[in-house]
Amino acid sequence: MGTRITILGIETSCDETAASVVRDGREVLSDVISSQVELHAKFGGVVPEIASRKHVELINPIIQEAMDRACVAFDELDAVAVTNRPGLLGALLIGVSAAKSLSAALDIPLIGIHHLEGHIYANFLTRPSLQFPFLCLIVSGGHSDLVLAKDHGEYQMLGRTRDDAAGEAFDKSARVLGLGYPGGPIIDRLARDGNPEAVHFPRAKLDDTLDFSFSGLKTAVIRFYREKGREFRIEDLAASFQAAVVDMLVNTTMKAIERTGVQRLALAGGVAANSALQAKMRDECEARGIELSYPPPRLCTDNAAMIACAGYYNLVRGRTDGLDLETIASQPLTV
Ligand code: KG4
Ligand code: ZN
Repeated sequence: MGTRITILGIETSCDETAASVVRDGREVLSDVISSQVELHAKFGGVVPEIASRKHVELINPIIQEAMDRACVAFDELDAVAVTNRPGLLGALLIGVSAAKSLSAALDIPLIGIHHLEGHIYANFLTRPSLQFPFLCLIVSGGHSDLVLAKDHGEYQMLGRTRDDAAGEAFDKSARVLGLGYPGGPIIDRLARDGNPEAVHFPRAKLDDTLDFSFSGLKTAVIRFYREKGREFRIEDLAASFQAAVVDMLVNTTMKAIERTGVQRLALAGGVAANSALQAKMRDECEARGIELSYPPPRLCTDNAAMIACAGYYNLVRGRTDGLDLETIASQPLTV
């Protein structure tokens, strides 16, 4: 291994085929993402069979493009990191097979990465100086978790959603409001011109825990829209819904900060790109003297740079996998 460590990251856990070359865990030499959003939009969500078929078509060209854009030759790679869990099995398998082939052909280490660990490490790409311990709010299409990151690879789950994930709440509510898929970015955009106090949607309060619940809010949006939806501007509904999600996420996160006493907070996952969430977290963290970090929008949503970055930190502490690396559909970050 050279003094500088160059890692190819591969991500195919859902509907993005992505490859990226990252040097020393921080220097993104290329970051290629091919989104299948348009293919799945007409179904209002990701269709697993379509996702797998598209990954098969795209995986080799996307990897090649990542290498070309980085101006790195295959024999200059020190390792290949790939998302192997959790995700759609058929989709994960495509990325993992490609990574295993490269690992065997180039005789370089293979590193299987937990998708949520990847999301956390997107923060190290923009802030390599981020210190442990920190609290991480991971909010994506499939997860809403509050995790205490104690050190590299050492995570403690403090809370999670009991029903829908935050991104799922955005996507399902957007569908009810007739806004298209994925709902998060559309609601975020519309809400900028809306009044967040136009409608007071319920905020679930789960007393003593650090868990989340979004299904009651989703039901309230559906009922409200059917009964009175047309009396309100869509921008006001979007802003009011978003304010409810943001309140729940921020309140529980601040409760976790108070309980743990940690001084740093990182946001991760697609919903971390939400402008209202970022703004409210900034205000609350500033008031408490908490150091806040979140990646730029492109690194919040699924990408392979975060996988290569997580791969780097795994590699330097000696954690690699064999060619028998498995794909796992469902696994919490802490097991
Ligand atoms: O992390 P991600 O790309 O994929 C998963 O691992 O699930 O997250 C996708 C989710 C979708 O539910 C999408 O609607 C949401 O992130 N999302 C947003 C925003 N951008 C993406 N939600 C709210 N505001 C956004 N700006
Ligand atoms: Zn994700």
